[in-house]
Amino acid sequence: MSEAGFDARALRDAFGAFPTGVTVVTAHDASGRPVGFTANSFTSVSLDPPLLLVCLAKTSRNFETMTRAGKFAVNILSETQKDVSNTFARPVEDRFAAVEWQKGPEGSPIFADVAAWFDCSTEQVLDAGDHVIMTGRVKAFDNSGRNGLGYARGSYFTPALAGKAVSAAAEGEAQLSAVVERDGDILFLGDDVLSLPTCAMEAGEPAQALRDYLQALTGLSVSIGFLYSVYENRTDNRQHIVYRATATAGDPVSGRFLTPAGALQQKLDSAATSDIVRRFDLENSIGNFGVYFGNETAGKVHPVSRKA
Ligand SMILES: Cc1cc2nc3c(=O)[nH]c(=O)nc-3n(C[C@H](O)[C@H](O)[C@H](O)COP(=O)(O)O)c2cc1C
Repeated sequence: MSEAGFDARALRDAFGAFPTGVTVVTAHDASGRPVGFTANSFTSVSLDPPLLLVCLAKTSRNFETMTRAGKFAVNILSETQKDVSNTFARPVEDRFAAVEWQKGPEGSPIFADVAAWFDCSTEQVLDAGDHVIMTGRVKAFDNSGRNGLGYARGSYFTPALAGKAVSAAAEGEAQLSAVVERDGDILFLGDDVLSLPTCAMEAGEPAQALRDYLQALTGLSVSIGFLYSVYENRTDNRQHIVYRATATAGDPVSGRFLTPAGALQQKLDSAATSDIVRRFDLENSIGNFGVYFGNETAGKVHPVSRKA
């Protein structure tokens, strides 16, 4: 696509293919009121001198404050702080009421429980189209060792779940399942008893193996998305790794697409399947997918998935 014909939404979506972490950039206004916004445009720039950058939209309500404060802090959110990210990306009246914070050594707001923070003096504010690039000189920082919250293609993801899936796969014979969605419907196998498409995990890359299985099963082109659930079924003593996936249009060779609500009125093969379908139904309606791990009866939705 050439520049003249760019569709802003398509360009934004393409930029969003780059997976990032999530930060909240903070400062104080002239009256001492804390301000902050969610930013995934953070980049480390230089070790000597210690420099970083974030890009700030010129439309930001805090544009003047942020660019004139002379200092700012970058809080790298940890994987349990999805709600913090959402709060600082929305026009919430008092964003800071939702977090525990204190002034850093340079004076800008530093949040509790972050993966890392950097308290900076503003080095430069560079004009860059509809944004400015703010570079900061790091005056103080801390690194808690917590996992950072991930963000890609408009969804949050969390490294802990990926790690859990890897160790689950290493521990025993794992089953790979998929919530294959299309326009809000999910692909089920079976007539009287419905199940999610599932295959045994062989050696190799699980997402690739699952995609090959699903494409052979349905005859459709399938894309594997983020992990959705990792749990141990104590009845069959197996680890189950569930991914989200999407399929192209057309009738599947095997299985059929059903609304989650419709499927829940039929017999499902296990309590775990009905939990997954119920959770998908809820999260799909609020556009906010979470991750889950545990066993089939006593697991929990990881805090990253909680809706504010
Ligand atoms: C994950 C995520 C990343 C974002 N990254 C940026 C960013 O890098 N720069 C930016 O200006 N806005 C970014 N935004 C949007 C702002 O957080 C959002 O517009 C916010 O409401 C701005 O607040 P303000 O107008 O009060 O400054 C991001 C939003 C999300 C959810």
